[in-house]
Amino acid sequence: MGTRLSDDPKLYFETHVFVCGNRRPPGHERGDCASKGSEKIRDYMKARVKELGLKGVRVNQAGCLDRCELGPCAVIYPEGVWYRLDSFETADKILELHVRQGGRLTENMLPEGK
Ligand code: FES
Repeated sequence: MGTRLSDDPKLYFETHVFVCGNRRPPGHERGDCASKGSEKIRDYMKARVKELGLKGVRVNQAGCLDRCELGPCAVIYPEGVWYRLDSFETADKILELHVRQGGRLTENMLPEGK
């Protein structure tokens, strides 16, 4: 019973980066990622993926990823690794270390279970 992993189709994107672009009214207790700059960083990251010629990589805007207090948040699949995407420099490091080299930018990874 059930589906075997070997029956799954090949990944359409090898790496899928979801960047929260949620915005809440000012003063909301949970805050939001857009007011911390996530939209500009997302746009920058998308442009860098093109400039670097990274194939099979897609950067998409996401709605709230429900880890608002730790944001601006991004999650990369299929690994399911979460990052605090707090600057253009961090975006560059994630593209180089995680996406290109398969490593981890440990200093920006979100803590487990929070
Ligand atoms: S507002 Fe970005 S994770 Fe909720």
